[in-house]
Amino acid sequence: MSFLTLQGISKRYGDFTAIEQLDLSVERGEFLSLLGPSGCGKTTTLQMIAGFVAPSTGRVTLDGRDITQLRPEKRGIGVVFQSYALFPHMTVAANVGFGLEMRKMPRAQRAERIAEALALVRLSGLDARYPKELSGGQRQRVAIARAIAMQPELLLLDEPMSNLDAKLREEMHIELRAIQKRLGITTILVTHDQVEAMTMSDRIAVMHRGTIAQLSTPFDAYERPATPFASTFLGRTNSLAGEVLRRNPRCAEVAVASTTLHVPHEGREVAGSVHVYIRPEKMRLANGDAGDARVHGRIATRVFVGNQWLLVVDTELGRLHVAQSNTGAPPPEEGHEVGLAWTDDDLRVLTRESAHGHA
Ligand SMILES: Nc1ncnc2c1ncn2[C@@H]1O[C@H](COP(=O)(O)OP(=O)(O)O)[C@@H](O)[C@H]1O
Ligand SMILES: [Mg+2]
Repeated sequence: MSFLTLQGISKRYGDFTAIEQLDLSVERGEFLSLLGPSGCGKTTTLQMIAGFVAPSTGRVTLDGRDITQLRPEKRGIGVVFQSYALFPHMTVAANVGFGLEMRKMPRAQRAERIAEALALVRLSGLDARYPKELSGGQRQRVAIARAIAMQPELLLLDEPMSNLDAKLREEMHIELRAIQKRLGITTILVTHDQVEAMTMSDRIAVMHRGTIAQLSTPFDAYERPATPFASTFLGRTNSLAGEVLRRNPRCAEVAVASTTLHVPHEGREVAGSVHVYIRPEKMRLANGDAGDARVHGRIATRVFVGNQWLLVVDTELGRLHVAQSNTGAPPPEEGHEVGLAWTDDDLRVLTRESAHGHA
């Protein structure tokens, strides 16, 4: 049995269903992210694991024990909430050591744990400060240190890095992941930030309207989205509406505008109205002479972002976003005609969702 399991978990608020029949298994030592847009039910799910919200249906088990009815403080779970409240009248060290003191850990041992946790979040030396003397990002890290100091078996993090500036956030992703691996703490992270989820996770659960749309490694979530929602939520992609003409053993022939695209279907049933997806970075500007262009168009916008050029090209397939890595030579300017090339293996196809349907 997995370390943590959620079985048939639902949460209703009156007539509104926030979580619908959710199943999830998390292995010991795993780092799993719940990723999805605001309102999809990430916090609610985390709160049900922590015990602060009671599920309307279903069962939660931790290390083989049914904890569905267990009080939060009896679960041995560390939680860092979106709004992490520090005690304002207590120093950083006292805040981090609070839970340990409650547990009656001897002073010397406690001091060691506090120093260790503060070093992990890179706040060594700030032990004697008060929360009001810290930046938002530092306060957020104190909250993380406080949870880590308890060395919980399961750590739940709800958007814990949302207050950090971009550079510090990137560094914290790498460091927090290293800490998590070193301590072997099973961790569930709630985030709407896909880069954060991809950087840190063993697996990502992409959430959509109270259900899990896809549960897979970050690579598979990006390369093989299982639903239209997952396709467009994770990273940028071009979606082309088309109709399946024929399903061959390996690929589907899909009519998009006046062109026929050959898209690998990977054994999935695809028929009727579909979307064909292609990532901006999987397209390249065609060599004029080689004649490998699959479609022609005009550059509508061209933006330089340092490592890449982002182009918008108007083609007979529609408006396509194209990303070219910066090799040192700028691509043609706005207004120029270009050909676009790709490899059919980089195309993806999924049956189009009906207007009312769920992913
Ligand atoms: N106590 C509550 N009462 C009523 N609706 C709630 C309550 N808590 C959350 N919801 C609703 O449940 C949905 C999921 O909320 P939440 O889990 O906080 O989403 P997320 O963390 O993914 O942004 C939202 O539509 C939210 O408005
Ligand atoms: Mg939330």
